[in-house]
Formats: sequence, C-alpha cells, structure tokens
Amino acid sequence: MRTLFLIFLSTFASFSFASQTAMQALNALLADPAAQEQAYEAGYERITFCKHCHGEDGNSKRKNIPNLAEQNPIYLFKAFEKFANGERKDFVMSKLAKNLTLEDRVNIALYYGKQKVIPQPAENQSLAAQGQATFQRVCQGCHGSNGEGKEDMPRLAGQPADYIINTLKIFRDKDPSRAVSVMTGITAQMSDAEILSVASYIQELGL
Ligand code: HEC
Ligand code: HEC
Repeated sequence: MRTLFLIFLSTFASFSFASQTAMQALNALLADPAAQEQAYEAGYERITFCKHCHGEDGNSKRKNIPNLAEQNPIYLFKAFEKFANGERKDFVMSKLAKNLTLEDRVNIALYYGKQKVIPQPAENQSLAAQGQATFQRVCQGCHGSNGEGKEDMPRLAGQPADYIINTLKIFRDKDPSRAVSVMTGITAQMSDAEILSVASYIQELGL
C-alpha cells in the first residue's frame, strides 16, 4: 500500500513538473521571435492529420468542430492536457492528445494560434442582435468585449454557431465529457433559445 502511494506521489510529481516546464517553454517561446519561427514550422509539420478537421489555417471543416485559428496558445495547450488526463473527453481528441509529445503540443498550439479566423455571417440577423445583448450582459466580462479571450480564457469570436450550441448544452446539462468547468454554473439557467441567439452572434463576431 505504502509503495503504491509512493508510486502515485512520484507519478503525480513528475506530471506536474512536466506541465510546468511545458508552460515555461511555451512562455519562453512566445517571447523569442527566432525560436517562435522554428516552432511554427515544426507545428506545421505536425498538423497533417489535424487539418482534415480543423483546417490547415485553423478554420474548421465542419460546423460542429472548433476553429483553432487565433485561439490563445495557452488555452490550446491546456486543452490537450485536459483531453489527455480525461478531464475533457472526445472520441478522437482524447486518443490524439495522448499521442502528442510535449514538444508537438507546444508547436501546434503556437502554429494554430498564429492563424486568422474567418468569421461567418449569422443566418438570422435579429437572432444575432438578441444574442449580442446576452453576450454583453453575461459573457464579455470573462471572454472580452469582442470575444477575443485571453491567456487561458478561450477566444469565442468567429466560432461556428453549431459548435457553440453543442458546447453550451454540454456545459448546461453537466455532460461528463466536460463537467469540470466554470461554464456549468453560467449556463445552468440558459434556455435553448438564448443559446441559439448567443451562438449566432458569436459566429459573426469579428467580421
Ligand atoms: C476527426 C476530426 C478531428 C481531428 C482529426 C482532430 N480534431 Fe481536434 N477536435 C475535434 C472536435 C470534434 C473537437 C471538439 C471536441 C469537444 O467538443 O470537446 C476538437 C477539439 C480540439 C481542441 C479544443 C479546442 C477548443 O476550442 O476547446 C484542440 C486544441 C484540438 N481539437 C486540436 C487538435 C489537433 C492538434 C489535432 C491533430 C493532432 C486535432 N485536433 C485533430 C475534431 C478533430
Ligand atoms: C466567469 C467567467 C466566464 C463567463 C462569465 C463566461 N465564460 Fe465561457 N468560459 C470561461 C472559462 C474559464 C472557459 C474555459 C474553461 C473550459 O473550457 O471549461 C470557458 C469556456 C467557454 C466555452 C468553450 C470554448 C471552446 O473553445 O470550447 C464556450 C463556448 C463559452 N465559454 C461560452 C460562453 C458564453 C456564450 C458565455 C456567456 C453566456 C460565457 N462563456 C461566459 C469563463 C467564463
């Protein structure tokens, strides 16, 4: 029992050490233009599989898949960690995240973070206007007045409406695939209509 506990402790210690050095590596990269260029190239080499879903330029190929373009690299990096440790679950992403090395995760986060989002006009403008009111009242305090995000606060601007709708319902319904999130409380009282309108607004934000 005691041995098991010690093994547990040392695994835990090396895991947090690893994630801390990765964050340091990422922060150091973000401050060093030459190293950043190399990491960008290396990241590009590693997205051959990702681009089938998330696009080569980080604008996703399907409406239920998130854009990675312009997303904060620290948020992207932490998302891999959550898929890898099971805090967040997705059939494809959970497997992929476990197979990416630390270096891959840093480089890919940097590569996609540097791409540009192409927002899409909302299908229904009056719906988007209603969504804007909700966004300004509830969301912008954390996600930024233009949905631009910061550090580990994700960018929302330009995400496909379908992805936002699915994700908000996952949070609201306390779906185990993403149960550990501040968003569970925020969405608890949201109606389907409110989710639809805020998603329409987010999709065209940044146009
Ligand atoms: C078969 C399609 C598919 C492939 C291939 C794929 N992804 Fe994903 N990815 C998804 C879906 C779907 C989600 C949303 C999952 C969810 O709802 O949590 C996602 C989510 C993500 C997220 C979280 C984004 C956010 O806004 O929270 C990151 C980061 C990510 N993928 C990176 C990658 C990388 C890097 C690769 C390649 C190594 C990759 N994905 C390959 C479908 C895919
Ligand atoms: C108290 C701060 C806070 C407020 C207010 C807030 N959010 Fe969030 N939101 C977060 C944090 C932190 C995350 C990242 C953690 C996570 O992914 O679970 C997040 C994640 C999300 C995601 C997942 C992003 C992705 O790429 O998968 C969506 C979608 C989202 N928020 C939408 C909204 C909307 C819409 C509102 C307003 C109705 C809102 N949030 C209000 C803090 C907040």
